[in-house]
Amino acid sequence: MEEPIRIAPGVFWVGVNDFRTERFEALWPLPEGISYNAYAIVDEKIAVVDTVKDAFAEEYLEKLARLVPPGRAVDYLVVQHMEPDHSGAIRALRRRYPQMQILGNAKTAELLKNFYGIAEGVRAVADGETVPLGQHALQFHATPMVHWPETMMTYDPAERILFSMDAFGGFGALTGGLFDDQVDLARAEYETLRYFANIVGRYSARVQQALQKLSKLEVRTIAPAHGPVYRRNPTYIVRKYDEWSRFQPQPGAVVVFASMYGNTEKMAQTVAHALGENGISPVLVHNVSRTHLSYLLADTWRYGAVALGSCTYNTRLFPLMELYVRSLEPALMQRRVVGLFGSCAWSGGALKSLRENAQNHRWPVEDPAVEVRGAPTPEDLQACRTLGQNIARKLMAQAAE
Ligand code: FEO
Repeated sequence: MEEPIRIAPGVFWVGVNDFRTERFEALWPLPEGISYNAYAIVDEKIAVVDTVKDAFAEEYLEKLARLVPPGRAVDYLVVQHMEPDHSGAIRALRRRYPQMQILGNAKTAELLKNFYGIAEGVRAVADGETVPLGQHALQFHATPMVHWPETMMTYDPAERILFSMDAFGGFGALTGGLFDDQVDLARAEYETLRYFANIVGRYSARVQQALQKLSKLEVRTIAPAHGPVYRRNPTYIVRKYDEWSRFQPQPGAVVVFASMYGNTEKMAQTVAHALGENGISPVLVHNVSRTHLSYLLADTWRYGAVALGSCTYNTRLFPLMELYVRSLEPALMQRRVVGLFGSCAWSGGALKSLRENAQNHRWPVEDPAVEVRGAPTPEDLQACRTLGQNIARKLMAQAAE
């Protein structure tokens, strides 16, 4: 998408698509790329909301230049969030428009200095402050820790657009269209959940505070910093964010296992089959050695039950399972139905670690926790069936509440 895209009279998308970066934050896979959304409001004053990752500065500046009439310049840059996927082109933008004033909050100013050595031409705006542009205006709403301490959102009362920064945004580049009525919404929802579960979810309490605060605004369009712009149904993505940040699951369960020689895998499949036999649908089974952590976390966030099984590796949890378990949000897991199983050769270890972790973080664990030595016997597999059955019963009882 080479041209700026008009999202309302005087308001344009000037973002970029990134199909090159393998992993967001050097961690999270981007098989379908990612967009860095930035916006321009062209009025008596010209304001730009956010920039893009530094490698895309030129494309961003070219797009923006098409909107700036001859003899005029960008008057304001709103820095809603300082993570470099959005702030990376600030220096380049400032070189192009040296008189431009940078609007952020006190915390933004500190980060601007630390990241880019920028201290001049920065104006700290207060929560709720409005900066007029002509027909349009910029009204600032502090939303700290969604995702960093300085994060804030900007509302344009004229067009009732909420520029929402990371909130409501997802992985996946924009292909064929910018708007929610132009994209595969199911796909976009999953990639938004994956972004939420991996990036924003640990600040769910702050997300809830932000949603509460923003509920007073009349919003017609949500324009996030990643993924589609919601013009047809902004309520849809707000509801999803509300569900996710309240840890509310959708029907289904996920079984996550680590297995070197197939014994724990056999247990995982037995637990999964018992879940299905007892009325749970869908049941997803993930092998930690094949599926990236980011998808494991997204699916754990999505479904109401999670069964974890690990082989023992050097008397401890299998390393990739350890990473997954360490990445699980305690507040989320306290609202999930949890089952544990594992295998070992001689020492035990995996199940012990899973149990200790569950106790430390107060996960509600269903009986029986199943551990086998070597290959599972028919009795062991029966215990796995019982575990699946018990998880299913608990999940269904919770759904009926
Ligand atoms: Fe899209 Fe927190 O950066």
